[in-house]
Amino acid sequence: MDHVPPPQQMFQHITAYWVTQLMGTAASLGLADCLEAGPLKVAEIATKVGANADALYRVMRACTAVGVFTEQTDKTFANNALSQTLRSNVPGSMRNFAIALSAPGHWRPWEQLTEAVKSGKSTAHAALGQELFEWYGTHPEEGAAFTGAMHNLAALVAAEVTQAIDFSSVGRVVDVGGANATLVSAVLRAFPNTRGVLLDLAHVVEAVKKTLAASGLAERCETVGGDFFKAVPKGDVMLLKQILHDWNDEQCVAILRHCAESLPRGGRVLVVEMIISEDGKPSPAHLMDANMLVLLPGKERTATEYGKLFSAAGLTPGRLLPTHSPFSIIEAIKA
Ligand SMILES: C[S@@+](CC[C@H](N)C(=O)[O-])C[C@H]1O[C@@H](n2cnc3c(N)ncnc32)[C@H](O)[C@@H]1O
Repeated sequence: MDHVPPPQQMFQHITAYWVTQLMGTAASLGLADCLEAGPLKVAEIATKVGANADALYRVMRACTAVGVFTEQTDKTFANNALSQTLRSNVPGSMRNFAIALSAPGHWRPWEQLTEAVKSGKSTAHAALGQELFEWYGTHPEEGAAFTGAMHNLAALVAAEVTQAIDFSSVGRVVDVGGANATLVSAVLRAFPNTRGVLLDLAHVVEAVKKTLAASGLAERCETVGGDFFKAVPKGDVMLLKQILHDWNDEQCVAILRHCAESLPRGGRVLVVEMIISEDGKPSPAHLMDANMLVLLPGKERTATEYGKLFSAAGLTPGRLLPTHSPFSIIEAIKA
């Protein structure tokens, strides 16, 4: 972006929310799914998705301005590599992520970022009248999109976790706050002798049972509707992907203590998070940290900070394994 004059760069930053909502609308209308079989005239797409053809043309043309969809002659649009990621249920899908991040649960707290900076606290309750995970529990459609969004992100790193960690001698893996069970499912597929447990809030687990049944893993993956601040099911390895970043240090230590209580000696906790580099070098983790400031009591942390949480919970810090995704794997062992 160096060649773009600063005011124009700033214009792009300031209007970035237009793009968020364009992606959200394209995703929730299912525009990319509509184009699965090939290019279509915008009037046909409008009929399929129940939209005004002129407005839809303007929105799809705006999407092409950021490289999403290709406009052919005669108001005809086709999918391209970027719009393919807005399709449902394809490898690399980001469709649910686009829906969830443009929907009220995330959007409204962000409107109050300045308040969060002044108070040092999440604005979720002020903006939504409830804390974020309560909101998802009482807004099932948006909650399902959020669970799907977590699946989109977990799918970016799941294969790397199963390559980096040998689970072949692990009896039981618990996906703590596992949402769509994406991570534990990848482990179970890669290691046929391992069994799994999904722990999440009751309403999340109910919906995920169908996904597990459809993927043929229901027999090998127990589901537990519960609260990780009260207890965590027993297992030999605890997976915590993007759990600790939701909570403050005290809350993290409480979750980790429950994990430690349910592990045997030699058992492991595997935390999958974006890591703030020790030298403060800018990275996407800093943006995710601002997201945590607004939405939840949590924050992104350095590896050293994770190490301190492990020690406070009676666990021994282990390896830090970077992946090709934005996430790293941070290990802790129950000695
Ligand atoms: C940021 S999401 C991460 C989901 C999943 N680990 C992943 O990365 O795909 C946090 C998850 O924690 C769950 N959760 C929140 N509070 C919880 C609690 N008290 N007990 C159990 N699960 C909880 C949410 O429902 C959500 O699925």
